[in-house]
Amino acid sequence: RWHISENNLPPGSQVLFREPGLWAKYRWQASLITGVILIQGVLISGLLDERRRRRVAEVEFRQRLAELARLNRHSAFSELTTSIAHEINQPLASILTNAETAELMLKSSSPNLEEVKEILGDIKRDDQRASEVIRRLRSLLKKTPFEVRDVDLNDTIREVIRFVAALAHGRDIELRHATTSASLHVKGDPIQLQQVILNLIINAMDAISEAETKKREIRVITNISGASAEIIVSDTGPGIAADNLKDVFDPFFTTKPQGMGIGLAIVRTIVEAHRGRISAANHASGGAVFTVWLPIAHGRSNSA
Ligand SMILES: Nc1ncnc2c1ncn2[C@@H]1O[C@H](COP(=O)(O)OP(=O)(O)OP(=O)(O)O)[C@@H](O)[C@H]1O
Ligand SMILES: [Mg+2]
Repeated sequence: RWHISENNLPPGSQVLFREPGLWAKYRWQASLITGVILIQGVLISGLLDERRRRRVAEVEFRQRLAELARLNRHSAFSELTTSIAHEINQPLASILTNAETAELMLKSSSPNLEEVKEILGDIKRDDQRASEVIRRLRSLLKKTPFEVRDVDLNDTIREVIRFVAALAHGRDIELRHATTSASLHVKGDPIQLQQVILNLIINAMDAISEAETKKREIRVITNISGASAEIIVSDTGPGIAADNLKDVFDPFFTTKPQGMGIGLAIVRTIVEAHRGRISAANHASGGAVFTVWLPIAHGRSNSA
């Protein structure tokens, strides 16, 4: 109290009252604060660790999805060989005809070189057409990481329809694409989105082929529904048995003798990775209807 150091007290003095130290005075408060800081530290490092683990899991998930999707693309494309062969054969056949014609023209006594030049131009164009098919095929089958770009869904659908057109024609199935908007932009991986549509169309073709129905038609319709782009793929096949409706998206669920049952599981995984939704239903008039909703990319969509 008098601020006299204990060392300066005369010998024999007895200290009856000693001011308590800071620690003794605030022991409880100090322990409480230290405890709170410790708990907070543990919580924060736990949360950071959880975040890091979630990020690693997300990257792994995307890699696995890309790998699985590639496998599924390979199996889809083995089915599409006819279509692809047709797309490549057509330009090759006309290259041959044109080359033969040019040869004949050059053999004549006074060849019309202007016409030969035109024919050579045609040959060049056909060659580019064939290489373009191969380039697209390569890009579809190559190992690509998940990438996000601005994608116009109507372009994606047109591209897939080009691929399956000959196959559909061979199976006597009419493929129609109708849209209510000039462009329909979403953010996503263009190849995976193609795969969604490709799987839905191939399933529809399988269903129709199996059914032997009179009307053999697949419609792909795109719409804008609120903040979502909507893709509807419907067919005139037998539809999905009511008992199976809830199972069709499950991995390895199949009713086909040669089916793997992974097509729709991959479709749903891709759609969900794009923050979208998918549903399966049956038309009142028969036939299955698959609807996909994907969030529209801001500022890029044109309404009808
Ligand atoms: N358009 C459709 N009409 C009727 N049933 C369908 C249709 N699409 C899918 N299904 C049913 O859903 C099941 C699962 O489809 P999914 O695409 O996942 O596998 P899959 O076509 O059998 O085999 P794959 O792995 O080769 O695609 C099909 O076996 C079929 O029973
Ligand atoms: Mg399938």
